[in-house]
Amino acid sequence: ASYDTEGHAHYLIKEIHEQPGAVERTLSGRVDERFATAHLGGLNLDAREARAFRRVKILGCGSAYYSGELGAQLIEELARIPAHAEPASEFRYRNPVIEADTLYIAVSQSGETYDTLAAVQEIKRKGGRVLGVVNTVGSAIARECDGGVYLHAGPEISVASTKAFTSTAVAFALIALHFGRVHDLSPADGRRICAGLKALPGQIREILADEDRIAKLAAEYAHNAGMMFVGRVRGWPVAREGAQKLKEVSYVHAEAYPASELKHGPLALIGPELPTVAVVPDDELVEKNLTTMGEIRARHGRVLMVGHTAPDPKFAEDAILIPKNEPELDPILLGIPLQLLAYYAAVALERDVDKPRNLAKSVTVE
Ligand code: AGP
Repeated sequence: ASYDTEGHAHYLIKEIHEQPGAVERTLSGRVDERFATAHLGGLNLDAREARAFRRVKILGCGSAYYSGELGAQLIEELARIPAHAEPASEFRYRNPVIEADTLYIAVSQSGETYDTLAAVQEIKRKGGRVLGVVNTVGSAIARECDGGVYLHAGPEISVASTKAFTSTAVAFALIALHFGRVHDLSPADGRRICAGLKALPGQIREILADEDRIAKLAAEYAHNAGMMFVGRVRGWPVAREGAQKLKEVSYVHAEAYPASELKHGPLALIGPELPTVAVVPDDELVEKNLTTMGEIRARHGRVLMVGHTAPDPKFAEDAILIPKNEPELDPILLGIPLQLLAYYAAVALERDVDKPRNLAKSVTVE
């Protein structure tokens, strides 16, 4: 089937708008509300094997790595298995210790990223078990893995990843739910996550309906020399991906920092010329995030909050408010406005949105 921009100005905005459908396909046939779990036949792990792993290590590059960070949090939260994400490119160069009781998960939209493929091959050489979270069916990484989850997000043409990022986070929520239910996740919590997953496509549509306002904000913020992105715990991988997206497509310098780390150095950068995007999930850290925003405002830094509840104006000049899901799943939604922000900043600056300079869609060389 031909795949063109179908009336959209760029593939990037088309793919941003395709996310409700992409997420529906990632979820399709996998959410079991009756038993409050997820069915992922491609994992090739029975319940006893799924229980046996003591750790999870997630590997990917760029946005795939950041979605892996969301995945590690989901697995720790729902399954209580220690999980950690690392750039595949670093992992393969550092002679990593491969452990029999660690489950390795490689993440790749294209399935052809050389650094990720080489990491998978190194793990397998040393006897480790690797699953893939991959979009492209039959790709090199998918073939090399012992099993996994296909995203079914559909083709992604624009160099900057959007729908694959979101679908990867959703796939990790399914993996975490599945592992959770063979560990200690209660049926009630399992049902809560099933319902939350099913609500995602509709909520993404609601966020996309706010596009015009986000476009206006993006055009305003695009003309700064740089931007800071901050978040805490669940908001931190979202902030990293938000900064990555802005850099890639608009060439505006963006730096992501854990909000908790600002006062340990980067607060020195804050002033009227460096605005901050604060990613603020409605969780137990919201007060701490507001305190950080107050500290930025006190240094005359402009703050754009992305969250669920309107802040007191003393904490943020601007806010993008999105619907609330379950706390574990909210990061998936918080990423969507940041994609629109990056896209419309790039449009305002007349960048080559779908093919940013110096970048390739999949990096198949070392
Ligand atoms: C995403 O916007 C980037 N273009 C890049 O970081 C990408 O995610 C990375 O190169 C990994 O690609 P993959 O998912 O195809 O392996």
